[in-house]
Amino acid sequence: MDAERIGESDWNELQQNLEATIPVYDKVNRFATLGQVSRWRRMVRERLPSSGRVLEIGCGPGSFAEDFEGEELVCLDPIPEMLRVAEGRVGPKRESRGESAVEFVEGTAEELPFEDSSFDAVCSLFSFRDWFDKRAGLAETLRVLKPGGVFVMVEPAKVNRLHGVMGWLWMRLWVSSYARLFYNSESNPWKWLTKTYASFGTTKDYVRMLEDTGFEQVSAKLVFPGMATIWQGRSPEAE
Ligand SMILES: C[S@@+](CC[C@H](N)C(=O)[O-])C[C@H]1O[C@@H](n2cnc3c(N)ncnc32)[C@H](O)[C@@H]1O
Repeated sequence: MDAERIGESDWNELQQNLEATIPVYDKVNRFATLGQVSRWRRMVRERLPSSGRVLEIGCGPGSFAEDFEGEELVCLDPIPEMLRVAEGRVGPKRESRGESAVEFVEGTAEELPFEDSSFDAVCSLFSFRDWFDKRAGLAETLRVLKPGGVFVMVEPAKVNRLHGVMGWLWMRLWVSSYARLFYNSESNPWKWLTKTYASFGTTKDYVRMLEDTGFEQVSAKLVFPGMATIWQGRSPEAE
């Protein structure tokens, strides 16, 4: 596992562990981020258009999608159980707001099952770190975006190596201790949070990767209190 790739057996184990987090996913996230996760989700929502077709890659149990009030939403995840839970949560909320039904699609970022230029915006929250081939996933993201479309992603921050050590300690001591209340220490699936964070790259690594892929107007913002970064990029405008 490194800043660009996760090997097949590690990724399969990671996916099993992610599935095991479903029952306490939001509870642990709120605790881990001192309640800031809702604010970061709102910041992502504010960067997305309210009209047009939006794709969320790695929707998990629907924690972001349920409050997204956009016109047309497609939620993608490789784990069928994530999609099932998300559907039960997001569908009724959108219906109560009089919005269109969501399309739930099983798949991975690295092989998006969509036509070229089919989305006005794409977002990914706390999922990019888990993609097994980040360059391939970003190339696919760019492919499905319409010209001028926006891509927004958020992940735990790692500004530099020292910041990475502090983040690692936070996850290892604070988050894992809390998560262990719900699991025994051997089976605690949250240990994968620390593992994927340890091999995750820095903010600049992914600014460069987004630019290498062909995204334009790439930016990254460390958000208060320094625990998360939001990256943004646009697909080139048509000639
Ligand atoms: C931690 S959850 C994030 C859930 C949600 N987006 C949120 O805001 O909390 C990460 C999700 O990314 C998904 N994921 C992992 N690898 C992926 C890949 N290669 N392509 C797309 N999604 C992936 C996982 O299945 C998991 O449901």
